[in-house]
Amino acid sequence: MLDLSRAPEGFIFNKKADHVIVLPMLPVEFNIVYEDFSQNPYPTLSKLRKRAPISFVPQLGAILLSKHEDIFVCEKNISVFSSVQPDGLMTRLMGQNMMRKDGEEHKKERHIIFPTISPKTTQNVWKQKFISHTKKILDNLSDQQEIELVNEFAKPVSAEALKSITGLTNMTWQEMDRVSQGMIDGCANYTQNKAVEENCNNCTASIDLHIQERLDQDLGSDPALLSVFALKNEKFETISANVKLAISGGQNEPRDAIAGTIATLLQNPKQLEKILNGEFNWLKAFEEYARWMSPIGMSPRRIAKDFSYKDFNFFENDRVFLMFGSANRDEDIFEKPDEFKLDRDVARSISFGAGPHFCAGAWISKTLIAEVAIPMLFEKFPNIKLLSGVEYSGWAFRGPKPFFVKV
Ligand code: HEM
Repeated sequence: MLDLSRAPEGFIFNKKADHVIVLPMLPVEFNIVYEDFSQNPYPTLSKLRKRAPISFVPQLGAILLSKHEDIFVCEKNISVFSSVQPDGLMTRLMGQNMMRKDGEEHKKERHIIFPTISPKTTQNVWKQKFISHTKKILDNLSDQQEIELVNEFAKPVSAEALKSITGLTNMTWQEMDRVSQGMIDGCANYTQNKAVEENCNNCTASIDLHIQERLDQDLGSDPALLSVFALKNEKFETISANVKLAISGGQNEPRDAIAGTIATLLQNPKQLEKILNGEFNWLKAFEEYARWMSPIGMSPRRIAKDFSYKDFNFFENDRVFLMFGSANRDEDIFEKPDEFKLDRDVARSISFGAGPHFCAGAWISKTLIAEVAIPMLFEKFPNIKLLSGVEYSGWAFRGPKPFFVKV
């Protein structure tokens, strides 16, 4: 006798027969409690992977893909899972950047910025700048016995790096952080809160003013984003949209990854010891942290044409969220995925994405976080200890809330 209670949700049954008729179907509906999901999405994502790996979540207004395999396959199929989202908040508020383009148009802009983001430039140009910014920030903290690690260390390190990479050296690090946060809030403003939208517009206007001021000056020969776009005589519109993309994507993730990796190592002293005695390196710690607590949990796509995949029907203009954070905790890929383990093989982690939009700042991030920020902090403060527990928040962007360390 067929046990219907064990069948996957959403399947269509012929109850009179003793077999299941599998017909193409819409993704099933899966309700979440938004507040719980924002605070800690992992229990819900685990249920989604087990019960409804492709499902419509009304509270997010999107179809969520939560299994590693599905994201890995679908993200590369850009003729269906398109990045072009003309009505999306990011395009409307920040302009159409490369992350909202497909195919050749995307490739063209990605090619222009290669001299800024390449491993060679990262090692030969940016690394020295990152070291010098981080040294100043650490020197300024020398007299303190307690440090609030997110705001006093991770945030300025990340923002100073971003000033160099974008070429917006005329901004303060505080303004860089403010405009980044304002745009992130604007892009996640699905409830259309007027104040959030106005603040986002104020932030993008500030960026445009700073860009114009720098374009009117001699940019010099360094390979910052502004310089490489100006060299190609790109339109202000293109420069502005892509600099805004780098700012919205390049500030909070390194900030969260720096602070989060440090917190996690301090909470796991035996694993920290393995780095300090040379068994593992800092990059391993950052990569495992980024798998375990993915700073970007999701990347959106628009369905470009009707399509069916694994018996699910998608329709043109459906909104899909690729849940990277969930893929990185997929039990089919990672053993005991909820544990932070330095000796884990993270080769299949997709913290930086898994398709043509693979993070443009990946090499930069690895150098900033694992070769500069974290090792320099532990070198400067070898007796660093946590003064409290560490809480995390967010599902699309996730990182630690402010926490104190004793140095
Ligand atoms: C811990 C650090 C970071 C993480 C975890 C991260 C993660 C990601 C992810 C998941 C994506 C989307 C990939 C996709 O949709 O397939 C992305 C895209 C992108 N990231 Fe990052 N990112 C980080 C740091 C940075 C930094 C520092 C910059 C700039 C300096 C940056 C610039 C970009 C850009 C420009 C894109 C769009 C690439 C494209 O459309 O081709 N990211 N990042």
